[in-house]
Amino acid sequence: MSTHDLYTAPVDTSTWNVPLAGDARFTWEYGDGRDRLLALYQKGKDKQWDSVKRIDWDLEVDPHDVLGVPDQSLAIYGTRYWDAMSDRERGELRLHSSSWQFSQFMHGEQGALITAARIVESVPDLDAKLYSATQAMDEARHVEIFSRFLQDKVGLVYPINTKLQDLLAETLDDSRWDMPYLGMQVLIEGLALAAFGVIRDIAARPLPKQILAYVMQDEARHVAFGRMALRDHYRELTAPELKEREEFVIDGCHLMRDRIRGREVWTNFGIPPAEVDALVADSPYTRMFQSLLFSRIVPCVRDIGLWSPRIRATFEEMGVLEASKADLDALMGADEEIAERLDSERFAAEEAARRAEVDAVIAAAEAGS
Ligand SMILES: [Fe+2]
Ligand SMILES: [Fe+2]
Repeated sequence: MSTHDLYTAPVDTSTWNVPLAGDARFTWEYGDGRDRLLALYQKGKDKQWDSVKRIDWDLEVDPHDVLGVPDQSLAIYGTRYWDAMSDRERGELRLHSSSWQFSQFMHGEQGALITAARIVESVPDLDAKLYSATQAMDEARHVEIFSRFLQDKVGLVYPINTKLQDLLAETLDDSRWDMPYLGMQVLIEGLALAAFGVIRDIAARPLPKQILAYVMQDEARHVAFGRMALRDHYRELTAPELKEREEFVIDGCHLMRDRIRGREVWTNFGIPPAEVDALVADSPYTRMFQSLLFSRIVPCVRDIGLWSPRIRATFEEMGVLEASKADLDALMGADEEIAERLDSERFAAEEAARRAEVDAVIAAAEAGS
């Protein structure tokens, strides 16, 4: 079935064309790779997996409660709009809200696929090209997973959020090789990763939980790659060059803040988005929820060395400066562990079921003999 049959509003059926800016760089140095990057490349190869086999696609999804997350996560929960809704309408809102969320993940993953391929072309060093090629495969898998989930299980797809699209265009339409890293690995993926983590941890439904846990295992490598490459590069830049990067981060964070407001959903329910913004500003729960979404961006920006008073002031004004204290390595380590634990739990459950089956066959044979 065509995705166009599932969009909440008509979407242009032609491609979105972003002109290429900058050079494709060849290098004749094949030997001099950095150990840490080559180790990450090896890990990228070792940890490849097939979503068709690893994810249990037979798990059922209830479209009116796709994720099984508390209704408090909906910005209008507890307001007069929520109170006026019937159970059926609330189910519809849950459907739209998770469809919107996962649709942005899917479009963002396509952006990540294209950006990873772009980095292969434009980054000057071979070790980074090799690593990025593994990331391109990871991102292809993520596009595959999110699109299958939306099309086969949810049945409703939202168009790309215009702010996300703006940031993608800015990220790709820049000839400096580090900008795709900054826009994608730090901002877009940083935000997505935090959102994946929140949903993975609070969702009660096993299919979205599995999907997010396994995708996050890959993303931990992508963030490590972005940090390594940018930290090395930014040490060598001049103050005006760093300032340009900071401006980009500040603009990007504003775009991301607007992207997470999900205005399209409210418009579809006849609720004025400006009113929802005001409700959110008044709700400590949703404010906390939204600031969690910056929990991966802020420490990463600090870590790569873009930590001027202006950046700090921007984060302060957005209410997310606290997040700079988060330990990114610990968070990433936990992401990898959660995926591995999920695998071993599922494997143990399957083994127990197989053992019970064998025991039943033996018992039946003994009873018959
Ligand atoms: Fe991804
Ligand atoms: Fe990624």
